[in-house]
Amino acid sequence: MSEERLFSLRNRWFTVTVGGTLLLVVFSVVVGFIWLPSAQSDAPFQGVWNAICSAAGVPQQWLRNSSATPPPTVQTSTVEMTPQLLSVSSELAVGRGATLALRCTMCHGARGISEANSPNLAGQYSAVIYKQLLDFTSGARQSAVMSPMVANLSDQDMRDLSAYYTSLPRPRIPAAAAAVPMPAIVSDGAPMRNIASCASCHGGIDHKAGAPWIEGLPAAYTKAQLLAFANDTRHNDINQQMRNVARNMTPEEMDAAAAYYAGAQPPER
Ligand code: HEC
Ligand code: HEC
Repeated sequence: MSEERLFSLRNRWFTVTVGGTLLLVVFSVVVGFIWLPSAQSDAPFQGVWNAICSAAGVPQQWLRNSSATPPPTVQTSTVEMTPQLLSVSSELAVGRGATLALRCTMCHGARGISEANSPNLAGQYSAVIYKQLLDFTSGARQSAVMSPMVANLSDQDMRDLSAYYTSLPRPRIPAAAAAVPMPAIVSDGAPMRNIASCASCHGGIDHKAGAPWIEGLPAAYTKAQLLAFANDTRHNDINQQMRNVARNMTPEEMDAAAAYYAGAQPPER
């Protein structure tokens, strides 16, 4: 047998295996550092050099505008929600609010309890009402009906309206309507789909600042809001608290929650 040298270009096995390995390396580098990153449309991936750096994880402070957070594509809420927001109220504010509210009665009812599938406002947390009015004003929450209603309200008007509505007695649901048993989605959520129980934010178990109590809301309204959160047409919830819940709900769970809350008794004060 001839004494073939192992590490020699004349050894066919050597050239084929080493050459093949090198080709494979070059191919995966091209795919991983150029082809796949270039398929992304974000700014840090524009151009071959940027694509390579981004894929390699090089921080790109030197890239123009890269230090700025990208602006959201939709208007989000600008309200800073704290448990203390609007926690003090005065007789004067309630009185002014009552006068201003004359424009609202046709839909939200003479005493803040709607007969027309609009949300009830009577006894709602004042911070919640104030936040929603601010969000309608900024465009973070859009409604063909409500957006024009808030267009010429001043900040003081909104505070006074909130003080007035929160001072009204909460609706009492007739006992006959309250027959729907609490569905699992309300009491336990759906942990496997990352849904916390409704009661952990909306009251019953715990209350999250900015979350309205939703007992007694018309079922059609609740369902419509859940759908709007799920498909992002309503996007004023801070940190997507409600959208993350609604997106993972099934239509059956939405119906069950809406039916249950429509017949449930609002919390006593
Ligand atoms: C023409 C009917 C109409 C009038 C008048 C009206 N609203 Fe509304 N309001 C609605 C409807 C409908 C909604 C629900 C909007 C949606 O579907 O997102 C709503 C929602 C709201 C909400 C949000 C409530 C929640 O639970 O999220 C607030 C707060 C509110 N209105 C306050 C007012 C105030 C204050 C006025 C008077 C200045 C007023 N509205 C006048 C129909 C009306
Ligand atoms: C992590 C806390 C959290 C959980 C869990 C949660 N919500 Fe909410 N929900 C909120 C907050 C906060 C808002 C107010 C959003 C805003 O700022 O407009 C809200 C708003 C809503 C509204 C709109 C009310 C109105 O008057 O417009 C409905 C309806 C609602 N939630 C139903 C539900 C149901 C049903 C569940 C259970 C499946 C649920 N939520 C679970 C935090 C939560």
